This record gives sequence, structure tokens and C-alpha cells, in this order.
Amino acid sequence: MKKIALLTSGTDAPGMNAHIRSVVRTANARGVEVIGVRHGFDGLIKGEFFPLERKDTANIISLGGTILKTSQSEEFKMPDFRAKAAENLTKAGIEGLIGCGGDGTMKGLHLLHRDHSIKTIGVPGTIDNDIFGTDFTIGFDTAINTAAEAIDRIRDTADSQGRVYIIEVMGSESGFIATMVGIACGAEYMAIPETITNVPDLHQRIKREGPHKRYIVVIGEGDEVGGAVELAALLKDCYNIESRVAVLGHLQRGGTPSVADRVLASRLGYGAVETLLGGASNVMVGEVHGQLQVTSLPQTYERKKALQDHLIRLAEILA
Ligand code: F6P
Repeated sequence: MKKIALLTSGTDAPGMNAHIRSVVRTANARGVEVIGVRHGFDGLIKGEFFPLERKDTANIISLGGTILKTSQSEEFKMPDFRAKAAENLTKAGIEGLIGCGGDGTMKGLHLLHRDHSIKTIGVPGTIDNDIFGTDFTIGFDTAINTAAEAIDRIRDTADSQGRVYIIEVMGSESGFIATMVGIACGAEYMAIPETITNVPDLHQRIKREGPHKRYIVVIGEGDEVGGAVELAALLKDCYNIESRVAVLGHLQRGGTPSVADRVLASRLGYGAVETLLGGASNVMVGEVHGQLQVTSLPQTYERKKALQDHLIRLAEILA
């Protein structure tokens, strides 16, 4: 292989730039040219290609977001647009494609491989950490540290005022972020999609603390009761419990990537290039128990990555 392409797709995650840097530098060291694709799969359809050189990756390792930009492409879900994307790749003489993103990205890469024989490698990049085939996804560590810092600040005022706070963190389908930051911040209660949120029980627990006591509930946005606003409304309407709501939202997705994310992104970038040059396709490169591991792309989204029971139990015991 002499020419490969790289894109970031779906929602961005801190550490994607460290990944881009690693792919370019590893490929160049192997005498391979990298073509950057702007705006994820949308850019693939429109042919937004440019030579991505080593100099473009100077000084980006500590930047949040992605210099390649990204998109949550609706068009790419349609076969005709995917065919156009494949044609653009072939016309540009590109022999393989690396894509960093979440489950939608893994699906898109799989379809390009299946329907158009494009050699594709996925790299897990999402703050949600919900991709099967890797212990951690790029961006997760930064997001939980950012959320923890915000919750620590809220805790100061919650404690001083003796208030109930319901704090919503991201994680559309999984409670990895909520559980980790809940444990790290000493939250009193965690509401996550993996377990049933029993509102009468939560009410009893808050009541047991007595009046004027701090009570921090961390809720994952994917919880079945809804988000922080809905849970606060239930507590007020059913039990007359006053609370304050904080939705941390997109601030969790920005900022300087943590050291752990920079190192993970660098390792996975290297692993992706080596895997592609080694002749593999239709796989994601992840890290499991400290080792690089490949998993077939369909498995990464068809199999559910379970939140470890021991973390849920620990959160319960310590709350
Ligand atoms: O998938 C990552 C994620 O940050 C989710 O946690 C969240 O639900 C979603 O992206 C939000 O996406 P958007 O940027 O479209 O609001």
C-alpha cells in the first residue's frame, strides 16, 4: 500500500487529534502517504480529500476536537451515496481507509468493505466508552475527568446549602460515564440505563439523610426515567422533594485530552496503520488488557459492551 485515507466520524472525542498525528507519523515512517478526509463520511461522499502531511500534525496532540472535522452523515446510510464515496476513494488511488468514531462509524466502514471491497479499519473514538472490543474508547478518560471536575464544584455548593442535586452526564445508551464519575465524586446515587431507577426507593434514601443534607444524584442521559429534568420533576411531583438540576452536556466532549487518551489514541493509530498494511480489513483495532486487539467490525456494534457488575456494586456500596 502506498496511499491510505483517514477520517473522523460521528461525534468528536478528545484524543482524536492525537490519533490523527499517530496515523500520519506511523504511515509516513512506513513510506505510505495519508489523505485526510474532511467532515467524516459526508466528506467521503463529496470528495473532500487533501494530502495530510507530517507538518499538519505538529502541535495538535493536546488539542480537543478533530482537525479533520466530523459529521453524523445521514446520506451515508443510503447505498447510492456509499457507492459514490467508494468511487471517490478508488479514483483517488486510495487503497485503504481508517475511520475513528463510534458505533455508526464502525457500521459505515463495514458497509464500505462489504459492498465495495474497500479495505477498512475502525478505531474506537467516543466519550461514551460503549464499543465492544476495547476496554476504553478514545475520549472517555478525558470526559470523565471533565465531568468529575464539574461535579466536585457543584458538590461544594450542594454541601454548603444542604441541597439535593441531580446532575446529568452524557452516555446515550450506556452508564459508563455516570458510574465512573459517580464513584469518583462520591455521589449518593447513580441512575444508569443498565439498572432500574427506583424513584420511591430514591425518595426513601433522600428522606433517610434528613433535612439540609447534601445529596448528589448522577444520572446518565440514557436512563429510562429520562434525564435530570425528568427525575427532578418526579421527585417534586410525587414526593415534594426540592432539587437543583445541572446538565453537564457538551462540555464533557471538549477540552485538552488527558494523558491516558493521548497515549491510547497514539497506540491505536499505530495499530490501525500496522493492521491495514498487514493486509487486514473490516476490523476495529482496540486495546484489551493492555494489548492491541482486533475485532471484526460487525461485532463491535452487534455485541453489547457490558458495564462491569463489580463497578455497579461498588457504586452501591460506597454511595
Ligand atoms: O455518542 C457520544 C455522545 O456524546 C453521547 O453521549 C450523546 O448522547 C451524543 O453524543 C450527543 O450528540 P449530539 O452532539 O448530536 O448532541
